[in-house]
Amino acid sequence: MIRFDKISKVFNDGTETLKDVSLTIPAEQIIVIIGPSGCGKTTLLKMINRLEIPTSGEVYVDGKAVSSLNPVELRKTIGYVIQRIGLFPHMTIEKNASLVPKLKGWSKEKTSERIRELMWMVGLEPKQFLGKYPLELSGGQQQRIGVVRALAGNPNIVLMDEPFSALDPISREQLQVETKKLQEKIKKTIVFVTHDMDEALKIADTIIVMKSGRIEQIGTPTELIENPINDFVKNFIGIERINRKRSVGKREIQEFIYFFEQEKQSPCIEVDASLLLEEAIALLEEGRENCLLVKKTNEKLGYVNQSVLLRAMLEKEEVV
Ligand SMILES: Nc1ncnc2c1ncn2[C@@H]1O[C@H](COP(=O)(O)OP(=O)(O)O)[C@@H](O)[C@H]1O
Ligand SMILES: [Mg+2]
Repeated sequence: MIRFDKISKVFNDGTETLKDVSLTIPAEQIIVIIGPSGCGKTTLLKMINRLEIPTSGEVYVDGKAVSSLNPVELRKTIGYVIQRIGLFPHMTIEKNASLVPKLKGWSKEKTSERIRELMWMVGLEPKQFLGKYPLELSGGQQQRIGVVRALAGNPNIVLMDEPFSALDPISREQLQVETKKLQEKIKKTIVFVTHDMDEALKIADTIIVMKSGRIEQIGTPTELIENPINDFVKNFIGIERINRKRSVGKREIQEFIYFFEQEKQSPCIEVDASLLLEEAIALLEEGRENCLLVKKTNEKLGYVNQSVLLRAMLEKEEVV
């Protein structure tokens, strides 16, 4: 768990970037920090791994004040992915990905096994890619390696600062879906910064909306869409998204069969096909289950999870 306690940041030139921010970030979720450019997202994120130091206040990671921890040791336990991933061009993919395990003194076998496992998880065949150099890979592939590198040392926390912003829309979409799937598998705490509301709604368990160095609202995607706390949040989410959600919400879950997954993702709740989309999303938000088994009378229609429903909601045009 990460806790910010009365954090303020004033840069040397007098810029007041964070103003008395107190915040607890839940563990084992994807938490998205969103807000306009310059509102302090990156500064807040970098305080978690001590790349920035608060002017006042303290950040705690698992109950320990980060100011009391050795920064190098701290960073070995926190993965970090940024927009331009900064792989070392003269090192192979395998060397790049093995940096943290090496620093941690892992054996060659353990490192190699871990890297190969992660490569499969991000959809890159180890044999094909590990011997290559970064410039032989596309932007999307390099960003995937960035994710592998960040996860290699098995950190509990992963910080991602606009990691997919520089990618084309298709790679970006793929990586969003993969990040969500990956997190469901590995259960890390992922703190993800973006300025893109579609991205936030797609991947977040919890969204933190910031404006000018302060937090405006914290909630699940559904809570933000349904109860934006003020005009700023409402405008930031976009009136048209809010309206779209409301009209889609009246529709039954069976209309989204198009998006159903074939595979069971346990544990599942059995629901009737007449369940409203809105209720389906809420049901998954409340419980421990991350999947619905949709049935009509006794016939099994398929399995669906929350990210699929949210995607369906956002891509309404494609399903009608
Ligand atoms: N090292 C710095 N020195 C002075 N001002 C800075 C520094 N880093 C960031 N800022 C300022 O702090 C504000 C927030 O920056 P940042 O956290 O990068 O915002 P965001 O990531 O939300 O775009 C901006 O006004 C930026 O210019
Ligand atoms: Mg930033």
